[in-house]
Amino acid sequence: MKSRKNQLPEQMTAIRQHEPGGALKIEKIAVPHPGPGEVLVEMEASPVNPSDLALLAGGYLERSYPFTPGLEGSGIVVEAGSGLFPRLRLGKRVACSPDQGGDGTWADYMKTSAMKTAPLPKHISPEQGSMMLVNPMTAMAFIQLAREEKHRAMVNNAAASSLGKMLIRLTKSQGIPLINIVRREEQVDALKKLGAVHVLNSTSETFAAELKQLAEELDATLILDAVTGSQSSILLDAAPRGSKLIAYARLSGDPILANPGALIKEEKEIVGFQLGNWLHSKGVLFKLRFINSVKRQLDGELSSTISRTYPLESAEEAIAQYREHMSDGKIILKIGSY
Ligand SMILES: NC(=O)c1ccc[n+]([C@@H]2O[C@H](COP(=O)([O-])OP(=O)(O)OC[C@H]3O[C@@H](n4cnc5c(N)ncnc54)[C@H](OP(=O)(O)O)[C@@H]3O)[C@@H](O)[C@H]2O)c1
Repeated sequence: MKSRKNQLPEQMTAIRQHEPGGALKIEKIAVPHPGPGEVLVEMEASPVNPSDLALLAGGYLERSYPFTPGLEGSGIVVEAGSGLFPRLRLGKRVACSPDQGGDGTWADYMKTSAMKTAPLPKHISPEQGSMMLVNPMTAMAFIQLAREEKHRAMVNNAAASSLGKMLIRLTKSQGIPLINIVRREEQVDALKKLGAVHVLNSTSETFAAELKQLAEELDATLILDAVTGSQSSILLDAAPRGSKLIAYARLSGDPILANPGALIKEEKEIVGFQLGNWLHSKGVLFKLRFINSVKRQLDGELSSTISRTYPLESAEEAIAQYREHMSDGKIILKIGSY
């Protein structure tokens, strides 16, 4: 496919934020053009993720203002900068994410490094494909970690999330027992219907005792903590000796609380996880195999439920809906007219 540079409009619609925590504005801005190693993606779809809310609140990632939010999405590569890799991407439908500090996916077009794009299988919809680079890869990374470190069972909180549901399906097929922690009773039933065996409600009075008993019974030594705050301390105290707590988000907004005795006397540890850093530590061959395996399962164990779609211009409304109904499924911004 030839570059469509000459047919591209000069201006595009983009969602813009002008200060940390500030309102979102719909603006007309210039369509960017890719430099060496970069591509221009005509955006089709982008989800609203917890990381987007953190970014919009300010303080999550260093950045200059104004900027276009949106940390992942899908679209067609319509222009390629110099280099073999960008040229190979031209004309392909890709999952994509912005460069660090760069403008994001909530716009008609996004310029990004070709390395931040991955071609999507033909049978995957732009909506499902727009969510490939964050949750499916993270869910698979957690399974990989459990296998590498020989954990017999795992714990995950905020378990009614899209990522949590992927983990339920993956651990089931891989025969790894998973203790799911949610914060509402209706989520207990919803996850059991999905096939989860162990689901605990963190608001129950018996939560800490039930968790301790189950974690010991199953030898659940890998603890995935997306909530932090006082929940980290409950998770660590309930975990068997030598357990590892992986903090992978901070949904409570609070720092990790831990009883030092758990770390000192019981040799438990706390580490952080960020998908980009984890992938960076892996070799090229591993990465290729890993991403191919994610692609194969995108319409199965690694699929996400989509609760609603909104046009790009309704981003504020989409975010408000998402905040109130996070566990119902993903909210997708549909961009352009594909
Ligand atoms: N570190 C990484 O590399 C990485 C990669 C991918 C994802 N993540 C993180 O993984 C988590 C799940 O992502 P997702 O896209 O799958 O989420 P999602 O589908 O949007 O769902 C978010 C979930 O978090 C729950 N939640 C929100 N605030 C909470 C709180 N204070 N205490 C307990 N539960 C809370 C929600 O429950 P309610 O419905 O009850 O509000 C909902 O089930 C996010 O925190 C995300 O940032 C991290």
